[in-house]
Amino acid sequence: MGEQYRPQIHFSPEAHWMNDPNGMVYFAGRYHLFYQYYPGASVWGPMHWGHATSNDLVHWQQQPIALYPDSLGFIFSGSAVVDKNNTSGFGKNGKTPMVAIFTHHDTAQAKTVANTFQNESIAYSLDSGKTFTKYARNPVLKNPGISDFRDPKVMWFEEGKRWIMTLATKDRVTFYSSPNLKDWTKESEVGQGFGAHGGVWECPDLFALDYAGKKVWVLTVSINPGAPNGGSGTQYFTGQFTGHAFIPTDTITRWIDYGPDDYAGVTWSNTGDKTIFLGWMSNWAYAATVPTTKWRSANTLPRVIGLQKIGREFFISSQPIKQLDSLVASNKTQTAFKAENYHYTGPEKTPLKITLNTGSLQSFSLVLSNDVAEKTIVGYDSATARYYINRNKSGIIDFDKKFACYATAPRISHATTISMEIYVDAASVELFADQGLSVMTAIVFPSTPYNKIAISAIGKQKIKLLRVSPLKGIWK
Ligand code: FRU
Repeated sequence: MGEQYRPQIHFSPEAHWMNDPNGMVYFAGRYHLFYQYYPGASVWGPMHWGHATSNDLVHWQQQPIALYPDSLGFIFSGSAVVDKNNTSGFGKNGKTPMVAIFTHHDTAQAKTVANTFQNESIAYSLDSGKTFTKYARNPVLKNPGISDFRDPKVMWFEEGKRWIMTLATKDRVTFYSSPNLKDWTKESEVGQGFGAHGGVWECPDLFALDYAGKKVWVLTVSINPGAPNGGSGTQYFTGQFTGHAFIPTDTITRWIDYGPDDYAGVTWSNTGDKTIFLGWMSNWAYAATVPTTKWRSANTLPRVIGLQKIGREFFISSQPIKQLDSLVASNKTQTAFKAENYHYTGPEKTPLKITLNTGSLQSFSLVLSNDVAEKTIVGYDSATARYYINRNKSGIIDFDKKFACYATAPRISHATTISMEIYVDAASVELFADQGLSVMTAIVFPSTPYNKIAISAIGKQKIKLLRVSPLKGIWK
């Protein structure tokens, strides 16, 4: 796992095609990550669920494929839950079932006009996710005639003592409930008249966060195309969930990550008070043509989701999980210097974590570059109050004309200084600004690794702290 562009701090499959993370669940001391996988090539094809496990969400072990396509179709995206009370009856001899809920996508039927080719099915595992048995009476939720009817995300709703399925249904989200994961009843729909609608709605999620002792519910929905920086992206809404319906607080569209490469992300199931989110670090606009051929795609870093009130509105914050600190190999810290024309005397090798705190809100940029003058620029523009990642000259960009871009994100924080955490891997840059209130993820393909860091600013911006931390790779 040492090829050029092989992510060293992110999960990627050893070979072949991966897209959405699926079935993320914490079970018996291990984090499970399933994912959309095609083992036959490095482009999308008949979908399986690949599988990887981790004790810390940082180091991953690849596992055998968990779900194969069958007579009902390809195995599209979905979720997994721990059925502690054995509501499904799948548990035997005291063994708790892990139940996967996914979309069966029938390609033969997709060619007909009926629009009923996506249906929801289940499978269970009694050996901690090693092997799954598909339920004999699949599908458990039949399509009423909606062309896009997929990506079930299921959670246990304790107040109502039943399961809630959040399903993407074309241009909206539909909620279903079930006592046993097998029989589903439609509850309500949401999404008409608000949110971004530049593309089809996919991979939704619904979860509660705590704000000053009160529950605030968050509904996330990925859309493709129609994201703020082009192609694929994930919007979210805050509100209340009654057990039957989601009532949004307002109709403002917010984005979980404004960069071009965080898609189809959802949260882990069964992680208690912690809400941990993971996305697919790519974009449908060019995912199949990026210059890696043995495998294609990686995931973002796992992120802990929090909630903040800025002014009178709620915003999500996403911060890289703390366990990543275990990868820090060393730190080099410089304090209190002028941002104007500063060259960090490295060179340091990726993967890297860069921590930067400013003394004011003036514009500045941090330039990552290599020996052949390719660069990715991460910065803040005070005139527009926006963060940006500019990958127009980042390296190989000609595999798709939509790839080169100057992506921006609004600054949400009201603080009077800026803080940034930037994770630079072999083929990606992730910016977490202001404790994760403004987040951007972008993949990049420099012809040689970035080994230089410079800061530039026009005006009086002062850097209070710059810390460069080389990281150990996660693959043994
Ligand atoms: C999102 C998506 C899902 C679907 C899966 C198919 O990226 O289009 O809606 O289930 O990918 O691979």
